[in-house]
Amino acid sequence: MKRLFSSVTDRTKSSIIRELLKLINRQGVISFAGGLPAPDTFPVALIQSIIADLLKTNAVTALQYGPTSGLEEFRHELCLMLRAREGLDISADNIIVTASSQQGLDLISRSFIDKGDRIVMELPSYIGAIQVFHSYGADMIGIKSDGEGIDTGHLEKVLARYGKRTKLMYVVPDFQNPSGLTMSVERRSRLVALAEKYGMLIVEDSPYRQLRFEGTAPEMIHRIAGSDNVISLFTFSKTLAPGFRLGYIVASKKITGAMTIIKQSMDLCTSPFNQLIAMEFIRRGYYDAHIDLIINKYRNKRDVMLESLEKFMPRTEGLYWTRPEGGLFLWVVLPEYIDADRMFYQAIEKNVAYVIGSAFHCNNKGRNTFRMNFSYSSEDEIQEGIKRLAQVVRSNIR
Ligand SMILES: Cc1ncc(COP(=O)(O)O)c(C=O)c1O
Repeated sequence: MKRLFSSVTDRTKSSIIRELLKLINRQGVISFAGGLPAPDTFPVALIQSIIADLLKTNAVTALQYGPTSGLEEFRHELCLMLRAREGLDISADNIIVTASSQQGLDLISRSFIDKGDRIVMELPSYIGAIQVFHSYGADMIGIKSDGEGIDTGHLEKVLARYGKRTKLMYVVPDFQNPSGLTMSVERRSRLVALAEKYGMLIVEDSPYRQLRFEGTAPEMIHRIAGSDNVISLFTFSKTLAPGFRLGYIVASKKITGAMTIIKQSMDLCTSPFNQLIAMEFIRRGYYDAHIDLIINKYRNKRDVMLESLEKFMPRTEGLYWTRPEGGLFLWVVLPEYIDADRMFYQAIEKNVAYVIGSAFHCNNKGRNTFRMNFSYSSEDEIQEGIKRLAQVVRSNIR
């Protein structure tokens, strides 16, 4: 019989998060599950005023098709911002504007991954990347990670064995989704050296980098290595509004050139309307101010979550959590004998939700872990939700 669906469709599984959302969205559930910005931070009035001005002064560009790689003036603005914030020495040709980072991941996969190609990534790692790499038939190998990020000693051993057929390293080096941890500068440099040695590309996916609450940022991997070996993904989803579906890729001109052709067949172009709104938001100085505002908000929420965990969680061996210096998430590790996948349903019974940690493991392990988001819920909800969760954890302790 003829097969109806393509092998990509057959391989693409619905994200477990989407499945769990059906339970999580029930009335009364305090959800620490999604990776959502706090809705009360959306700068509605500023966006309204920009749109009104835009439709008066630049309506044709906003409403017409645009270039596949993004509007030239917007890409130029992004270069200026990256030069100022990150010291990246790039030009507009190094940038492709995308429908946020998830499209960037798809574009990377379509451009580089043939079935059976190897990708190394952290354990745990971003579920949406695992999903897209899987759908293109990549062979993913998980590398242990700790408080400093990916364990480069373990990575080196894996590469000594599989390096020749490994095409990409995928990392989320800043306030990682899901762990909340940041890769040290030593590990970044080691990663760059290993990528050079084995002729691999590094994909640096960094949606949270700008949301640093304290401490000093290690240099971007892109800055350490240059554009030849690194593809960096950026998004406005966490720093402005995910509804814009706006982000960008920074890579060598050779790579952006090839990807632009692929992108043409995907969507012709990213919304020029949204690009112009974001550009104006940056030019008017609103973007920097908005980031400062959300940093303050999310720092407070992180503190409330950490304090509540300290206060309510039982003390027992093997139970601990991360203390991120920024971003949207922290990560909880339970004693090995507790199954967080099963515990999820008990938590839902108590009207509190998290995301199971196994979903972030490309090797299906991590069943004693889960991810907690602190940006979305109010401070009161965070306290109440942690209190409920602590009861559930306590009932599972031997
Ligand atoms: C590491 C990482 N990459 C990519 C994405 C995709 O986000 P978006 O497509 O909204 O930019 C997310 C979203 O949570 C993420 O955490």
